[in-house]
Amino acid sequence: KMARKFFVGGNWKCNGTVESVSKLVDTLNAGEIVSTDIVEVVVAPTFIHIPLVKDRLRSEIQVSAQNCWVKKGGAYTGEVSAEQLVDLGIPYVILGHSERRHILKESHDFVGQKCAYALSKGLKVIACIGETLDEREAGNTIKVCAEQLIAIKEAIGENWSDVVVAYEPVWAIGTGKVATPEQAEEVHAELRKWLAENVSAEVAEATRILYGGSVTAGNCKELAKKPNVDGFLVGGAALKPEFIDIINSAQ
Ligand code: G3P
Repeated sequence: KMARKFFVGGNWKCNGTVESVSKLVDTLNAGEIVSTDIVEVVVAPTFIHIPLVKDRLRSEIQVSAQNCWVKKGGAYTGEVSAEQLVDLGIPYVILGHSERRHILKESHDFVGQKCAYALSKGLKVIACIGETLDEREAGNTIKVCAEQLIAIKEAIGENWSDVVVAYEPVWAIGTGKVATPEQAEEVHAELRKWLAENVSAEVAEATRILYGGSVTAGNCKELAKKPNVDGFLVGGAALKPEFIDIINSAQ
């Protein structure tokens, strides 16, 4: 873990108005946060709020998009391209979030292709994976996560240096049912083993694996102690002042 800088991402999803986003930026700007030597912090507003956030947010916190198009922009109504994010100076994009996989029906392959295209344009990728409750109860957690990782690996090959993996069990997202530190650590350790066996020992050692799903100021400290939990991807609590406490849980 020493070699992997702790990472805390705030995924604002489809939330916010100009007023509420401005207030949230003020809150984040006023909070005391640990040094960026210890933690890398990213927030992901909606596309339309990105310019506002980027202009006003303190420089210690980077801005991410929540999605981008799978290839070069053009006649794709409603999409935003990787090139456009790069042009605006946005360093990160979240891809493969469970809401996009399940509600928008993005397939494993499509997510893999998006990761490859975004990386090829110079974006860093927060690649989300995770099982549903049914899949967990059937004993298929690792199998499902591995299938999602295989599709990413087939598209990006050995090129994982700009990838952060976010393990977000679907049953924990927005439910208040956080994975226990033991449950998270068990899966994270398996994912790291998968990376070692299927990509390389170096990539397994260097890649940050975040936990996401009902993370709060109250539960983040115990999770952060686990050796394979390298940070968090936070939804609901990232819209509140407690996001500062989650940033400061960095180990
Ligand atoms: O991407 C973060 C997310 O899916 C977790 O959401 O609200 O359970 O923290 P939440």
